[in-house]
Amino acid sequence: MCTHRSNPVRGRFNAWFLSTLDGFINRLLAERKTRLMAGLSGSIVEIGSGVGANLSFLRPGTRLIAIEPNPHMHARLSERAMQCGIHLEIAARSAEDTQLPSDSVDAVISTLVLCTVPDPVATLAEIRRILRPGGRFVFIEHVAAPAASPRRRLQTLLRGPWAYLFEGCTLDRQTAQLIRATGFRSAEIEHYVLRSPFVPVNTQISGVCLA
Ligand SMILES: C[S@@+](CC[C@H](N)C(=O)[O-])C[C@H]1O[C@@H](n2cnc3c(N)ncnc32)[C@H](O)[C@@H]1O
Repeated sequence: MCTHRSNPVRGRFNAWFLSTLDGFINRLLAERKTRLMAGLSGSIVEIGSGVGANLSFLRPGTRLIAIEPNPHMHARLSERAMQCGIHLEIAARSAEDTQLPSDSVDAVISTLVLCTVPDPVATLAEIRRILRPGGRFVFIEHVAAPAASPRRRLQTLLRGPWAYLFEGCTLDRQTAQLIRATGFRSAEIEHYVLRSPFVPVNTQISGVCLA
């Protein structure tokens, strides 16, 4: 079931925004994305694929199911998949309910998505459910800055308008704790501060969990 309802104006705005900026964002995250994604193989699911920022980090020939509820992302996503040689299936569903069988996929990718899904706990449980034993969850996410830091105060100040404009994107989510509480067999989580003009989202985590 798709519980996500993209706003016609903001849904289009976000598709345009990602298409315009993801080259720049990819340059900032290239080393990290290469490290996390280069070795992935088999059946791969990506939640919240957007316009396909991660496709160029996957091997040509990869089979990918993209769980992307915003229809305004789909045309660019398909075009990118063709350019990168990815065999793409788009499912306009929510990551909380992928409708994929349990223990069925080798890897799940999420970049800058757990901030936005309405229910991150249900999304993480769904990722854990669909991964086969030994399967990998790889992620890059922006998270809450340390309590009482200037960046956290900025995140608190911008929280409402940011979530409105970016369709639910929550600046101060404690995503690392949520990942650790999901019950993966192992969770390697690196905390870092990105150097970018997007100050409210520069506190980030990346890593790999094994199911
Ligand atoms: C900030 S964008 C990130 C896109 C892409 N992963 C990237 O790194 O450029 C967040 C994406 O999550 C998608 N999204 C929002 N709610 C979702 C949900 N419940 N399930 C799956 N994806 C969702 C949005 O449509 C959007 O494409």
